[in-house]
Amino acid sequence: MKHHQHRINAVEVDNACGMLIVAWDDGMRKSFHPLWLRDNCHCSNCRHPNGQKLIDVSDLPAGVRVAAATRDGGGDGVRLCFAPDGHAARFDAAWLRDFAADAAPSKKLWDAEALSMDMVAREYAAVAGGSEALGEWLALILRYGFAVLRGAPTEPAKPATVCAVVEWFGYVRETNYGKLFEVKAVAEPNNLAFTDLGLAVHTDNPYRDPPPALQLLHCLKNTATGGDSMVVDGFKAAQILQRENAAHYDALARHAVPFQFRDRTSDRGADLQNRLPVLEVATDATRKLHAVNFNNRALGAIDIALDAQAEYYAAYRHFAEILRRDDRTVRFKMRAGDLFIVDNRRVLHGRAGFTSGDRHLQGCYADADALLSTWRILNTRSP
Ligand code: OGA
Ligand code: ZN
Ligand code: ZN
Repeated sequence: MKHHQHRINAVEVDNACGMLIVAWDDGMRKSFHPLWLRDNCHCSNCRHPNGQKLIDVSDLPAGVRVAAATRDGGGDGVRLCFAPDGHAARFDAAWLRDFAADAAPSKKLWDAEALSMDMVAREYAAVAGGSEALGEWLALILRYGFAVLRGAPTEPAKPATVCAVVEWFGYVRETNYGKLFEVKAVAEPNNLAFTDLGLAVHTDNPYRDPPPALQLLHCLKNTATGGDSMVVDGFKAAQILQRENAAHYDALARHAVPFQFRDRTSDRGADLQNRLPVLEVATDATRKLHAVNFNNRALGAIDIALDAQAEYYAAYRHFAEILRRDDRTVRFKMRAGDLFIVDNRRVLHGRAGFTSGDRHLQGCYADADALLSTWRILNTRSP
């Protein structure tokens, strides 16, 4: 992963402001603020061996400047002396160049044509058995927001297979549905998922704060007629919406709407409510799409101003219509031993209705941070 082996050619201090200017052997030049350098000093006074900072930001000397800078180790680093207190520091060439790099796989958006099940499906036994195969499977989730295991056990297990798969990389997120939930048609369903009805593509549980970032479903039995599964890349659909009608995209990003789930059948009961925009974009200047929240079953009464409602409904219906298009939708049948995981902030899932026969899935949720952490551990060679 580490591809920045560039050496430092020259270092220079701008005496007017105490900035450090570094030039690398490929012509790249970067300037560094003295406060920033001092804040990021890696010496044993400034950092514990575990990497955590020992100094407080308010302890940085006022008016700190770089007093002197020299190349070190033939260009693989730079030595600094700070004024006014003479503090000494050394920085690696690679670290200065690449301090913020996160090598996580970038998202590849897809539609029905671009994604085949074979691209994202791996054998359960291989991924269970090897850290390299696990690293690759996690990379599929990060890249496509959707990955599959085939050949998982089909006997109910304790702990359930679907929870054991989460433990490979992270932690099960428990909810009012339990650590594990059984997806099958029952007599008094508190959720339409537990019927034989079709479920239009949706993201799960936008009524939680935050919604679950990952969802897994594992098929133990499926002899039903129908019940085929569907997944849609919500980020791709949002991109299409923006191209077809930028005002519609903006409307879905600008207005938060209420999502809710109510259940009085269990002892504790549940009355979960959250407000989120259907298209959740970063609040910083990038306005980058962060998550799609789409679940018409769980959408409450839209409470935006009357004069904005016509436009809002036009936008919401337009997005829903894009999500239903055949060219967006990857369809597949879950067979006993199949398991899929979705990035629930990006990829929508659904199922067709079913009749006759038995259909039994087990599901659970997990957070995304542990998945990324495990991917980094598996994919970063130690120096
Ligand atoms: C769910 C769900 C899909 C299915 O349980 O969240 O969407 O295939 N189920 O039953
Ligand atoms: Zn220091
Ligand atoms: Zn669902």
